[in-house]
Amino acid sequence: MQTIKDILKVKAAEVEANLEELMNLNGEIAPHLTEAMKYTLLSGGKRIRPVLSLLTVELLAGNYQAALKAGSALEMIHSYSLIHDDLPAMDDDQLRRGKKTNHLVFGEAAAILAGDALLTYAFEVLAGLEIDPEARIKIIANTASFSGYQGMVGGQVLDLEAENKELSLAEMQKVHRAKTGALIKASVLNGLYCSDYTEAEKDALLKYAENIGVLFQIVDDLLDLTGETEKMGKVVGRDEELNKSTYPKLMGLKKAKKAAQDHAEKAKSALNIFGDKAENLKDLVDYILNRPEIPQMIFKK
Ligand code: IPE
Ligand code: IPE
Ligand code: MG
Ligand code: MG
Ligand code: MG
Repeated sequence: MQTIKDILKVKAAEVEANLEELMNLNGEIAPHLTEAMKYTLLSGGKRIRPVLSLLTVELLAGNYQAALKAGSALEMIHSYSLIHDDLPAMDDDQLRRGKKTNHLVFGEAAAILAGDALLTYAFEVLAGLEIDPEARIKIIANTASFSGYQGMVGGQVLDLEAENKELSLAEMQKVHRAKTGALIKASVLNGLYCSDYTEAEKDALLKYAENIGVLFQIVDDLLDLTGETEKMGKVVGRDEELNKSTYPKLMGLKKAKKAAQDHAEKAKSALNIFGDKAENLKDLVDYILNRPEIPQMIFKK
């Protein structure tokens, strides 16, 4: 039987191949910009967001190739968010996906522009999706709203404002839902929009996505405390140095772990309406919850 780890490996490889193909650019006017885009986008990572689009489209028996592209576009937006997240003006980080951060290699201006170019290219890819126009527009609108001021970017602003502050649990959930949860929700929805679905199925998947979004950030914050730089591919302990607002800081390690487990349970039970068909999406929850550090082989040198 295939375990979720095997499935993740296969799906991540499909995403990898698709990203490589999409980065075979036509009409580039600044090759070093392309190089900076590829440097972070093609340097590995778990590819959880596109995998979510793929597992969702499989669950709903929709258009797999369209979901692969829609998921890849989200991975571009995610990678841009990481390049900008690492900038000196933001988290000021040195290591990402096992390599020097983008701005340390290409300079700050080029890193900012590589992020901008990944973001805009993602929408070019979505505009070219081979799927009926109504679904295509839904996917574009969905991706835009969850990436921008109502989603990831808004959350990043809240995250920076929360440095050196003590947030309430509700405030922190708001930050997590936006900075991390929004792109995760968009990933599931893009898989859904490549398929036929009922409103009940959409509600269930949204509840699932909402819970894994928060779960994902709690685990990221736990690993920042307990993980190892080598295995994580990013320097751990930065949250403490930057005095970030995190679950473990607010409630301690034990309660933060319990909160992660609670979100995992809620995510899985949201999928009960699908019966056995949702096995892979449920197993992914456990993978996210229990993922130790990222195996180093995920990073490409
Ligand atoms: C890291 O995302 C940033 C967060 C939203 C916590 P991932 O843990 O998905 O990073 P990669 O894509 O695998 O490198
Ligand atoms: C990042 O959260 C969320 C993004 C939208 C990029 P973090 O700042 O905790 O992510 P890492 O730990 O640097 O990957
Ligand atoms: Mg950050
Ligand atoms: Mg960061
Ligand atoms: Mg982090």
